[in-house]
Amino acid sequence: MARRPLIAGNWKMHKTVAESVELVQKLRESLSSVADRDILVAPPFTVLAVVAEVLKGSQITVGAQNMNDNVQGAFTGEVSGALLKDVGCSHVILGHSERRQYYGETDALVNKKLKLALDVGLTPIVCVGELLREREEGKTFTVIEKQVKESLGGLAPIQANKVVVAYEPVWAIGTGKTATPAQAQEVHSFIRKWIERLYGEPVASAVRILYGGSVKPDNMDSLMAEADIDGGLVGGASLKAEDFTRIVRYQAVLSARAR
Ligand code: PGA
Repeated sequence: MARRPLIAGNWKMHKTVAESVELVQKLRESLSSVADRDILVAPPFTVLAVVAEVLKGSQITVGAQNMNDNVQGAFTGEVSGALLKDVGCSHVILGHSERRQYYGETDALVNKKLKLALDVGLTPIVCVGELLREREEGKTFTVIEKQVKESLGGLAPIQANKVVVAYEPVWAIGTGKTATPAQAQEVHSFIRKWIERLYGEPVASAVRILYGGSVKPDNMDSLMAEADIDGGLVGGASLKAEDFTRIVRYQAVLSARAR
C-alpha cells in the first residue's frame, strides 16, 4: 500500500510573530506546486493562530509541539487539544525526546495525551527513539519496543490507523549526526512489525513512520528511498525556507545498498 509522505517542521522554541509570518509566506509560495505529499509546520503556541491564518487555503497544515493530558480545567500554563483545534491545528507532536528528557514525560503520559488528541480530532505524531548510550549498549530494539507498546497501546484499530509515528534517535537530534538510511530503515521496519502485532497488518501498512534527527537537504533524498521511511520530522533545517523547501521537495534516490 502506498503511503502518502508527510514532511513536518518542528520549530521548537524559535520564531517571533514577524519571523513566523515571513517564513510561512515564503513556504506557501515555494511549496505551492507540491501536490503528492503532506506538509506540516509545528511552530510555538504563541504563533499558531497567525501561522494558521497565513496558511489558510494552502496545502500546508499546522500542528502544535505538545498538549496537556487533560480535557480542560485549572492547569495554569497548559494548553488542551481542543484549544489547539480551535486555532487551526490539525496535528500535535507528542512525546518528543526533549519533552521526555527535560520534562519527565513518560510513555504512560504520552499514551494518555495520544487518546485525548484522537478524541478531539487531532492527528498525533508520536515520537520514539533511543539514547546514544542505549544504542551503544545494544538496547535500541528493547527501548523502541517498550516505547511503541506503551506509548501507542490501547487504541481501537480505527484510531490507530490515524496515528503518525516519528523515529528520532536522540543521538541524531540537533547533533548533525544523522542515522544512515540503513540504520533508520532497520528501526522503522521494527516499529511497523510492532504496530502489526498490536493492531494488525492493515493498520501497520497504513501508518506513516517519519524519521527525525538532523534531516537536511543533503540527506533527505537517500532517507526517503527506504521502504519504511514515510517522511521526516525536521528541526533545525525547518527554520530556513530554502532548506525546508528542498527537504519537502526531496527526490528519493536509491543508495548503493542493494535492494
Ligand atoms: P533536528 O531536530 O532536525 O534539529 O535534529 C529534529 C527534532 O527534534 O524533531
